[in-house]
Amino acid sequence: MKLKPYAECKDKVLISPSILSADFANLGEDIRKVSQDADTIHVDVMDGVFVPNLTIGMPVVKAIRPYTDLPIDCHLMVHDPTPFIEGFAEAGADLITVHAETCQHLHRVTQQIRQAGCDVGVVINPATSLSAVEEILDEVDMILLMSVNPGFGGQKYIESTTDKIRRLRQMMIERGIEAHIQVDGGIGTGNIKDVYEAGANCFVAGSSVYGKPDPVQAIRDLKAACEV
Ligand code: DX5
Ligand code: ZN
Repeated sequence: MKLKPYAECKDKVLISPSILSADFANLGEDIRKVSQDADTIHVDVMDGVFVPNLTIGMPVVKAIRPYTDLPIDCHLMVHDPTPFIEGFAEAGADLITVHAETCQHLHRVTQQIRQAGCDVGVVINPATSLSAVEEILDEVDMILLMSVNPGFGGQKYIESTTDKIRRLRQMMIERGIEAHIQVDGGIGTGNIKDVYEAGANCFVAGSSVYGKPDPVQAIRDLKAACEV
């Protein structure tokens, strides 16, 4: 259930519904119903230290695992992710994304994720420069650019992210690196096309999927918005 390599799906728009906006009392069903149309299930793990909010951890990943065949994509917003990598892998994560801001030895952490059997994602906050990931681009399957300050769903997209995506994709092209660029925060039908055209191919969508009356149709609308 790993994520398809970027080279195999570079022209596809991948949507990752964030369960942060789902109904926590009915998570299994909320995940099952979007699994036909979505491409990964995005799980926001927050520790109340790195970000000012608390969410969920490994037992919830384990509990939702049987409800989808899609890759489970765990976004770790925690002060130090290293003690938890193997636990998330065992719980059923397929891709683990760590914040460059939280890893003293980022290269080692990317290896730890790979050794645990997962795809590797690295994420940076809006105020963090691309230079924080420049030296580990060869090691990752995905770079996630935060387009809001992490901690909460439903925030407004930070416009300067679009240029940052453009520069990151250009950097990857120049170095012959084929990796996913995921964007997280404030994505909706009104801005997804611009963000896609800038070079992102994978979109986390919380409120613009689970905040809509029909989450399945909302995913289709996001994909369709990139085509018009
Ligand atoms: C924010 C989380 C996001 C969040 C996105 O810290 O990382 O994944 O759920 O929510 P929306 O799509 O509503 O901005
Ligand atoms: Zn996230």
